Amino acid sequence: MTKRALVTGAGGFIGHHFVKFLLAKGYWVRGVDIKKPEFEDSPANEFTLLDLRTLETCVKASKGVDEVYNLAADMGGIGFITAYHAEIARNNILINSHMLEASRINKVLRYFYSSSACIYPQRLQNQSEVTPLKEEDAYPADPEEGYGWEKLFAEKLCQYYYEDYDLETRVARFHNVYGTLGTFDGGREKVPAALCRKIALAPDGSEIEIWGDGEQTRSFTYIDDCVEGVYRIMQSDCHQPLNLGTERLITINELVDMVARIAGKTLSKRHDTSKPQGVRGRNSDNTLLRNTLNWEPLISLEEGMTHTYKWIEGELRKTNRIPMLSESTR
Ligand SMILES: NC(=O)c1ccc[n+]([C@@H]2O[C@H](COP(=O)([O-])OP(=O)(O)OC[C@H]3O[C@@H](n4cnc5c(N)ncnc54)[C@H](O)[C@@H]3O)[C@@H](O)[C@H]2O)c1
Repeated sequence: MTKRALVTGAGGFIGHHFVKFLLAKGYWVRGVDIKKPEFEDSPANEFTLLDLRTLETCVKASKGVDEVYNLAADMGGIGFITAYHAEIARNNILINSHMLEASRINKVLRYFYSSSACIYPQRLQNQSEVTPLKEEDAYPADPEEGYGWEKLFAEKLCQYYYEDYDLETRVARFHNVYGTLGTFDGGREKVPAALCRKIALAPDGSEIEIWGDGEQTRSFTYIDDCVEGVYRIMQSDCHQPLNLGTERLITINELVDMVARIAGKTLSKRHDTSKPQGVRGRNSDNTLLRNTLNWEPLISLEEGMTHTYKWIEGELRKTNRIPMLSESTR
């Protein structure tokens, strides 16, 4: 029998990709969001515009589905999540608590929650050469203000709904997901997309601005690995949160050099240390993920960033934002 799924946040980056992934697996899919996807129409069987901050809308969204993939969140890059603690924490706890309760009311069989590496304690992330984070490192808690605290509490809610109501919850902690069809402008974009945009717009030989001294480190996950991982985690029997990331640590300066190479440009960097840069270093320890799924993200950063850069460059060309001069550098 065809499985029926709800994807919340289906107008967003990961949600939109996930709708396509489930359709390819033969699912019937309902997508819900407060906005439509930015770059192409949603192929979902049903796409409904709903604000999921109320129980009523969450009940409506999750009616008649077997599985819920809750990917809706008020979020953005480091500048955005640093600036709006109250608004982000309030909006997201409303979405996440109501989505769980609605899924219980509608007797949903499985529920997926998208948590984040931002739940990890800041004290473990104050050096560039950071020790990769294991799931158990989450406690004693000291997550990122606002966004991170809310994510950690929503993870706990998933645990309580499993323990008290037998709702089959699954949780992944995403580590910096990037790829095509992700927002790259306007303030909510993340580092990889922002760098691709800046580099695509910069004439060869010019200078680009980098937030911080560029020696902060991260690991990144390509979108195709992310959707595959979400699906595998949902199929597993694991009720505890799992890291979903890669273990390749890279500085932001190195990432800039990689994208400049992909673009075929020589650029210099101007570091603005007044801008937020988040924790100093963060990496994923995939031991538990590997042991649980016998799988982990496989796509190299070079391959993922090449797809992402080419797509963003193409979008900027479509809207005539790339100066004609840089045509020769293609
Ligand atoms: N992209 C990453 O690197 C990353 C990292 C860690 C965690 N996550 C988590 O993964 C999930 C998906 O992230 P994304 O990168 O696709 O973000 P995104 O911003 O592209 O998508 C989130 C979607 O949720 C929607 N939304 C916000 N408020 C809503 C509301 N009240 N009602 C209905 N929809 C609402 C937004 O309109 C947006 O389309 C989120 O839970 C996010 O916190 C993402």
